[in-house]
Amino acid sequence: MSKRVLLVIGGGIAAYKSLDLIRRLKETGAAVRVVMTEAAQRFVTPLAAGALVGERVFTDLFDQTQEFDVGHIRLARECDLIVVAPATADLMAKAANGLANDLASAVLLATDKPVLMAPAMNPRMWANAATQRNFARLQADGLSFVGPNEGEMAERGERGVGRMAEPEEIRDAALALLNDGPLKGKRALVTAGPTIEAIDPVRFLSNRSSGRQGYAIAAALAELGADVTLVSGPTNLAAPPGVKRVGVESAREMLAASEAALPLDVAVMVAAVADWRPAQAADEKLKKDKAGLPAISLAENPDILATLSKPGKKRPKLVIGFAAETENVEEHARAKIARKGCDWIVANDVSGDVMGGAENQVLLIKTDGAEAWPRMAKDAVARKLAAEIAAALSSKPRRRS
Ligand code: C5P
Repeated sequence: MSKRVLLVIGGGIAAYKSLDLIRRLKETGAAVRVVMTEAAQRFVTPLAAGALVGERVFTDLFDQTQEFDVGHIRLARECDLIVVAPATADLMAKAANGLANDLASAVLLATDKPVLMAPAMNPRMWANAATQRNFARLQADGLSFVGPNEGEMAERGERGVGRMAEPEEIRDAALALLNDGPLKGKRALVTAGPTIEAIDPVRFLSNRSSGRQGYAIAAALAELGADVTLVSGPTNLAAPPGVKRVGVESAREMLAASEAALPLDVAVMVAAVADWRPAQAADEKLKKDKAGLPAISLAENPDILATLSKPGKKRPKLVIGFAAETENVEEHARAKIARKGCDWIVANDVSGDVMGGAENQVLLIKTDGAEAWPRMAKDAVARKLAAEIAAALSSKPRRRS
């Protein structure tokens, strides 16, 4: 079945990019319908958008012909996803407060479908407390967001956060929410980020993992249609569209949340789990004035990858671990497959600047071979790995162990 996307174009200079977005959505095989606000029509014409979708564009809540033909309730329901791009401060404010005084806002109030917003506005408007309040409220209401990005603004010399995400990014986020693709119906778990292990109520042990690679993998799996749970330690990253994020702190919480995600088709363990935790987390803040230095004795954390890899009925069909090595990468990674019982290892050489950086160079090691990938962006590594996973899950007969 081809997916149906309702694109709501708001009134902002970024509206011209929404014409490109229409083209990119159609390239994926989606059927696209367009609603334009009155302000949007000052930036691009309904004629241009209509020519690209191949049907007339909807603009008016009170137009007799439009409302009797396809009313706002039908527009709101006869689709699989609503994309609002550009989502202006005004449209966000209306949606956050349930206003419905034009076709676009009425559709947003009437829908029971997932909504993806791509905000675009001047950085000061984005940073304004009212917009941030609306943004938080819309997220709490279950709407998804892509962007805004940081960069040059249309106004001369202005820079900041407020640029609309690029059409390709919006398309990818839309695909993730449409739950369609080669991994449709497959359940995936990704662990990401660091864990933090309490010393006392205010102090902890942790590491420098940014979570970027894991978040990118979760996004890439969702873009291929998988049902993705992302179990994440504390990071600064937003949950990718279409991904269910479960926030955890300690390794033990991460293990519990990972086991709660079973049954799974694939588990990708990217988290930098702390190997040890303070054996006893103090209930009260440790006092500095006590005689002598406090000694922290450590206890070993559970190995989440090894636990999920254990043979049994519940074992995911494909379990993938990561290995950060600084020497003899392949040899150490192979030993890790054997030790942990997983199927594949994505090994990287972290002797350079990979940790926390935007790029990664990996070696994908399967039981029957190894493949060195060229150095590429973490997003590209994620997409390539997701494609490998999709190929493996579609060709592999159900594993019995
Ligand atoms: O043993 P090492 O930490 O090098 O193994 C790394 C791999 O094991 C990663 O996939 C990491 O997410 C996973 N791991 C885990 N639980 C641990 C330690 C590592 O899942 N306690």
